[in-house]
Amino acid sequence: MVRPPIRPEQTAPPAPSRLIVVSNREPYEHRWVEEQLVCQRTDGGLTSALDPVLCRLGGTWVAWGSGDGDREAVNPGDVTHVPPDAPAYRLRRVWLSRDEVKGGYLGYANQVLWPLCHTTLDRVMYSKSSWEGYVAMNRRFAEALLDELHDRPGLVWVHDFHLALVPGLIKAVRPTTTVAVFWHIPWPGPDVFRILPERREILEGLLAADSLVFQTAGSADLFIDCARQFLQAESEITGKAVDYKGHRTWIAAHAISVDYQTFAEQAGTVSVEQAIRQARERLGVAPGTRLGIGVDRLDYTKGLLKRFWALDAFFARHPHYRGSFTFVQIAVPTRSEVETYRRYREVIRQTVSVINDRYGQADWRPIVYLEGRIRFETLVAYYRMADLALVSSVNDGMNLVAKEYVASQVDERGVLLVSQMAGAAEELTEALIINPYDAEGTADAVAQALEMPPDERQRRMRTMRTYLQTHDIHAWVANCLREVGLLLPTRHEVETG
Ligand code: F6P
Repeated sequence: MVRPPIRPEQTAPPAPSRLIVVSNREPYEHRWVEEQLVCQRTDGGLTSALDPVLCRLGGTWVAWGSGDGDREAVNPGDVTHVPPDAPAYRLRRVWLSRDEVKGGYLGYANQVLWPLCHTTLDRVMYSKSSWEGYVAMNRRFAEALLDELHDRPGLVWVHDFHLALVPGLIKAVRPTTTVAVFWHIPWPGPDVFRILPERREILEGLLAADSLVFQTAGSADLFIDCARQFLQAESEITGKAVDYKGHRTWIAAHAISVDYQTFAEQAGTVSVEQAIRQARERLGVAPGTRLGIGVDRLDYTKGLLKRFWALDAFFARHPHYRGSFTFVQIAVPTRSEVETYRRYREVIRQTVSVINDRYGQADWRPIVYLEGRIRFETLVAYYRMADLALVSSVNDGMNLVAKEYVASQVDERGVLLVSQMAGAAEELTEALIINPYDAEGTADAVAQALEMPPDERQRRMRTMRTYLQTHDIHAWVANCLREVGLLLPTRHEVETG
């Protein structure tokens, strides 16, 4: 009989300062704006999820110094303390060369691993030189981590697809350091992963970690399938543990979440009510106009084009909503150095303009398209006032916008529509689940949301809010770190010292 593998003993809580998070994207960037050094939080789910965690636990975040003013803001050890208004943790910046950025980040990470893992295979742009850049970039991160570990041993928590080789590079030098990995994006099946010439190197790099956590059980299973298929001879797989070259890696799934309390509290403030009034004025929407919201990085995986086709179908199939429903799309530019992203942005702009020309009236626009970053307070105001939120990703590890919308819906009036291809759909089952490839089906789901009786909207929203209250970002971090045997102090323990 095969015995299930035994989990490692749980140890005492780690000293917070021993947590070392590492990701490519830094949580705060310094930029020169009119000769002033300005510190801004960066975009994306990873930052919005992990910044509250580090603020609560303290520790160090190691990341690429991507801002044009980053070097001027660090001490001689390349460290600055963030958030700027209430420093709570160390941010150690890693300096990448032009080739490492071009080959590693823009090339192999964004144009090979990203489309591969999201199974948007026509977008994969492979080159050997980008792999070399990826290796060099991972080495650069590993050097900074080893330097950190030299002075203060700690737990290294590696995030995302940019750094798949880091666990192996750390363990080669410091085999006793605990290394945990969280993979934020989907993991593909062996039929897709086999496209990658360096599939063995990526798998080996990750299997040097002590734990490897995915967003969904589906991704965790597919990873195990890949390990089984591509490292067959050397690996032994028992339940959710992979033994490879004498080392065991625990494979698990824990869905990332949001800082529920922060969103809910902000959404309930008087200033948000004022921000809502101002936003409606700014958007030029007449009183009584119902609103939908979409908030996304301008990334093809978010299915923005399909969303607009669905809205086109909605106004065609449900003409009585012309003049009384407006969809507000907040689109945050991302990875603009990559041509695919620049072209995607152009197509999005053109599509919005075609739809607005087709249905728009003198005092009404079907789509209000706002490109750029958005302040937290404004974002929460949009979430609270929107009658519905539409998430139409063609593939998405989780999609935190869905969870942020629910957390901000303090009036329990809104309806969430979420793609069946986003991890969030597995948990937020009271949302209307849509298929982004089916424009007409999505259009009818928008109508269903707008026509849903208030008590049903409230019941669905309340169920999801209750779920997120306990399945928040702090529960997620505790679950992830428990995989490597660490029990974190509870929120209460931290707050009461
Ligand atoms: O969650 C996926 C992710 O790639 C994160 O790692 C990243 O911070 C975010 O999307 C934004 O992308 P980028 O760092 O390329 O701007």
